[in-house]
Amino acid sequence: MAENLAISASTQKEARYETLLPQLESLVSGEPDLIANLANIASALKQTFDFFWVGFYLVKEKPAASPELVLGPFQGPIACTRIGLGKGVCGTSWKEKKAIIVPNVDEFPGHIACSSDSKSEIVLPAFKNDKVFLILDVDSHRTNDFDQTDERYLSQVIRIIEKFI
Ligand code: SME
Repeated sequence: MAENLAISASTQKEARYETLLPQLESLVSGEPDLIANLANIASALKQTFDFFWVGFYLVKEKPAASPELVLGPFQGPIACTRIGLGKGVCGTSWKEKKAIIVPNVDEFPGHIACSSDSKSEIVLPAFKNDKVFLILDVDSHRTNDFDQTDERYLSQVIRIIEKFI
């Protein structure tokens, strides 16, 4: 049974993540449904940080064709539905199997602009059986909004996700 999300009154992002993480653990504990859990995680991140866009792209196999990233649960403006391997920031994170911080999206070659209001971005892959299963994508309407602190804490969000995928 869900309760209201508690959000740290601190303006420090560390404090906000520290308050958020245990709540994410309990939100998904005992719930095996992928979409329900990803939807609540996207919502909790949006509520805590008021990110411009936060959501997931899922690797989907296609019969007789290459797999693609397909838009999953998210919070924010409408977004591109499909992204190929190596395309944009998300497709590059998928291909290179690593987190990417983009301080200024205009300076990332091949960045896919779903909205001209998105100025910086951080993306992280989650793995299942050593293969990328999904990408967490967080966008800000400010440049330089993400740093190693976000990467460290969002990596912990990824560890929570990897327990139910
Ligand atoms: N900018 C991303 C595409 C997804 S949207 O930002 C929601 C990219 O370049 O992969």
